[in-house]
Amino acid sequence: MTTILVLNGPNLGRLGTREPEVYGSETLADIEADLAASAPEGVEIDVRQTDDEAELIGWIHEAVDRRLPVVLNPAAFTHYSYALRDAAAQLQQAGVPLVEVHLSNPHSREAFRHTSVISGVATGVIAGFGSDSYRLAVDWVLRSQG
Ligand code: DQA
Repeated sequence: MTTILVLNGPNLGRLGTREPEVYGSETLADIEADLAASAPEGVEIDVRQTDDEAELIGWIHEAVDRRLPVVLNPAAFTHYSYALRDAAAQLQQAGVPLVEVHLSNPHSREAFRHTSVISGVATGVIAGFGSDSYRLAVDWVLRSQG
């Protein structure tokens, strides 16, 4: 069984009602169901969400230790969490793929969203495609695993 961790930071549990004009009307449960439905046989998509920086960092540590590829929407932590970046750097050091995803395109939004402290240690970044950002990220992870 291949497991891909799909980790989500603060306020992403509010998708569906949170600024739908920016983030769409799908809930995180909808996104999870879509990813599960399109996952090939033998692939588990483990979707988690937290508003707690420490919990998110703990999940990254778990991914390092279990060598699990990560699709990460760090939400607002993207823009300022050096602690999350330092955790993500351990994935890079271990050669474990990390795809940073965003529903919106932060570069077309407020200036504070133009900086990502995560991108420098991510394998790649997918942003601006709504819930398809997750789908594209998972597809790439699967392709990269051969
Ligand atoms: C986001 C973009 C971030 O700037 C914001 O803080 C979020 C969601 C996105 O998916 O577009 O919470 O990561």
